Amino acid sequence: MTTTRKPFLTALSGEVVRPAPVWLMRQAGRYLPEYRAVRARAPDFLRFCLTPKHATEVTLQPIRRFGFDAAILFSDILVPPYALGHGVRFETGEGPVLDRVTGQAQVEALDLVRAREVWAPVMETVRRLRGALPPSVALIGFAGAPFTVAAYMVEGGGSRDFAEARHMAFAEPALFGALMARLEEATIDYLSAQAEAGAEALMLFDSWAGVLSPGQFRRWVIAPTARIAAALRVRFPEVKLIGFPRGAGPMLPDYAATAGVQAVGVDTSMPAAWAAQALPEGMAGQGNIDPMALVAGGAALAEEVDSLMRAIAGRPWIVNLGHGIVPQTPPEHVAALVEMVRSAS
Ligand code: CP3
Repeated sequence: MTTTRKPFLTALSGEVVRPAPVWLMRQAGRYLPEYRAVRARAPDFLRFCLTPKHATEVTLQPIRRFGFDAAILFSDILVPPYALGHGVRFETGEGPVLDRVTGQAQVEALDLVRAREVWAPVMETVRRLRGALPPSVALIGFAGAPFTVAAYMVEGGGSRDFAEARHMAFAEPALFGALMARLEEATIDYLSAQAEAGAEALMLFDSWAGVLSPGQFRRWVIAPTARIAAALRVRFPEVKLIGFPRGAGPMLPDYAATAGVQAVGVDTSMPAAWAAQALPEGMAGQGNIDPMALVAGGAALAEEVDSLMRAIAGRPWIVNLGHGIVPQTPPEHVAALVEMVRSAS
């Protein structure tokens, strides 16, 4: 056999793979001393994301240290709005700060031609990674889903409840819809470029999907995701799309059945067994260990892993957290988690 089957891609295609493939959201980041060392050389975070040498190196760091089954491109969901010409900056200790979208003018200023030039270094990073990863490790590209990116753009930054964005979606649906349409087009373009450069799977982070009521969730989460998935499927039928509608709750079955994705990220709030049976036959789930169990480590983590493995027995599943690794996570606990998953029967 000359072709190497990558366990992560096999699971994504709906097969039950054991030991289950494992990778972690935010597996590259501040909890790793080697990340902090590279990051210290590039004070501006967006510039750091757009420097292939740095982005390639920090993507590879957790692969070398822990031997995960997949690497996720190092970038950020706010790179595309920045590339489109929207004001985005990261202030230390404050998280992202964005210009606020208040009218059509800011929507019309979003420039996809310019964006392709600005995000070109991301595609160079993808190409370098495909050349550098071990043969059994798959490369995941990603983007923020339009609703989550629009929410940051309307709000001007992070928020507990994204009240401004939710208000605009109800009160000014034409304006919010125009913003969403631009972002949808840009997302298709951005993910297509990553697939062309060598990404083997793509993930859509809809981190704030859970703030929406059911009707709004269908309109601004499921419908745009379905259009993005359909467009990608035509051009890259072999590239699987993972949707992560964080906070979807009881909307998860509807999302899984109608959003057109090939796998679904499951957040911490959902019983994994419920999520696994809510997915259509042969669709892989991904998740959903509590990031705080990983901080705690020891017996607490072992119990979480055991209970996850029991819940997903006989199902196609990719082990991950239910949300990203937090900076205070001891790296030894990550190594222990990988060992627990690999030794689980
Ligand atoms: O390892 C990986 O997962 C790949 C890289 C990655 C980052 N952000 C790096 C990052 C990915 C996939 C993301 C996604 C992302 N970014 C999301 C969706 C997932 C989620 O967490 O819900 C969101 C909402 C963002 C926006 C974002 N980026 C915020 C709110 C922040 C500030 C909060 C924080 O943790 O500092 C970031 C910055 C960011 N993105 C960092 C990293 C490693 C930390 C920045 C630093 O090094 O100073």
